[in-house]
Amino acid sequence: MIHGKMLFLNPTKESLTGKLAVPGDKSISHRSLMFGALAEGQTEIRGLLESGDVLATLSAIKQTGTMIKRRAVGHYLVEGTALKNFSIPTKPIDLGNSGTSARLLSGLFAKQVGPLTLIGDQSLSKRPMKRISKPLTQMGLDLQGDTLPLVLANPHQQLQSITYQMEVASAQVKSAIMLAAIQAEGITTIIDPIPSRDHTEKMLQDFSGEVTRVGQELLVPGNQSLKATTVDVPGDFSSAAFWLVAGILLPNSELTIEKVGLNATRTGLLTAFDQMGLHYDLELIEDGSQEPRGNVTVKAQKGTGTVIEGALLPRLIDEIPILALLATQVNGETVIKDAQELRVKETDRIQAVVSNLQAMGATIEATDDGMRILGPTPLKGAVVDSYGDHRIAMMLVIASLIAEGETRLLDAFVMKISYPNFLEDLKILLHHNQ
Ligand code: S3P
Repeated sequence: MIHGKMLFLNPTKESLTGKLAVPGDKSISHRSLMFGALAEGQTEIRGLLESGDVLATLSAIKQTGTMIKRRAVGHYLVEGTALKNFSIPTKPIDLGNSGTSARLLSGLFAKQVGPLTLIGDQSLSKRPMKRISKPLTQMGLDLQGDTLPLVLANPHQQLQSITYQMEVASAQVKSAIMLAAIQAEGITTIIDPIPSRDHTEKMLQDFSGEVTRVGQELLVPGNQSLKATTVDVPGDFSSAAFWLVAGILLPNSELTIEKVGLNATRTGLLTAFDQMGLHYDLELIEDGSQEPRGNVTVKAQKGTGTVIEGALLPRLIDEIPILALLATQVNGETVIKDAQELRVKETDRIQAVVSNLQAMGATIEATDDGMRILGPTPLKGAVVDSYGDHRIAMMLVIASLIAEGETRLLDAFVMKISYPNFLEDLKILLHHNQ
């Protein structure tokens, strides 16, 4: 039941069963719109995620002169002109809650005269932007602001290539540099010792562009001309993650998430399942696309604690909240290390996960770069808070299903940022029982 901004949630005795296709991948959706605008010709997108974050990118691209038409749910046509029709909006571009939009669009718009102002909501206005302003100013963009509002200008419309050593394993930073590098003079080299999600690399090649990886170096030639293409967006593994964990936790469940993205840089949660002794079935769909996809099936089962650290982190960075919930229910201790990036997500996710799960009775404590969790501990209903973070809200909805008594979730509707139909899809999986 929904009451104002508070959601009242009750545990369920039902299991989760059946098949579900989750909405389109958020990262790929953002990129398909941006590459569509940077290419020449008409790009057709199917399965675009129509959520708050992606609609922020869509609106920003439209406001700057690229035509985008909606044909049906998730079906869009982008009339790309390689940004030749670029117009500077008179008002600041509002990117809402979307860090991906703010960072990647700064790279996409890096060669425009400007000035162009990017703003966002309270949460986005606190997130670090120095990580993109540093490399982009080295390339020649005049970018003011270590946080939003960001003001972008490039009076001479020139960008130089750079060699840049990544300071954090961040796909957003890497992608911002890549989007500028495509439009620069010369070859840009990005050195990233710990690989992050590689959707930008894959999509650049889909749009007839060029990028090469040599060991830890990513080489991006400048002055590239991109050609329009069609993009079929797979389901978002990060959205599927909530159902996979719910299926493991709710007795007698067995569910399949269909046509979900299985890019290896995103499926670290499956590696965590392996480490925890949790089983799943994978069925790959061979359709020739660069972004692998397939069906994942899980059943209710018990697992054991594990250590999550190092290069695994970027592969499951968005799944830590739901993985922490899982860890409260498996046998023994789970330690999550090297996850300091969680402190600068939509909220401080270490604090948000730990304080909410503690309120629900879990044995969990924060560390500087992660958390320690001891399971299994029964959860009880409590008043909990999403802190305006979509992934915290969805994790707490799943937690409420296995808790004893009522859970009251404050600021629940931020789920629309990445998964507008989350509660409807929960009902579908529950009703497969009937
Ligand atoms: C994203 C990269 C990740 C992730 C975010 C989406 C992307 O952020 O947390 O939800 O689309 O590139 P970082 O690159 O900052 O780690």
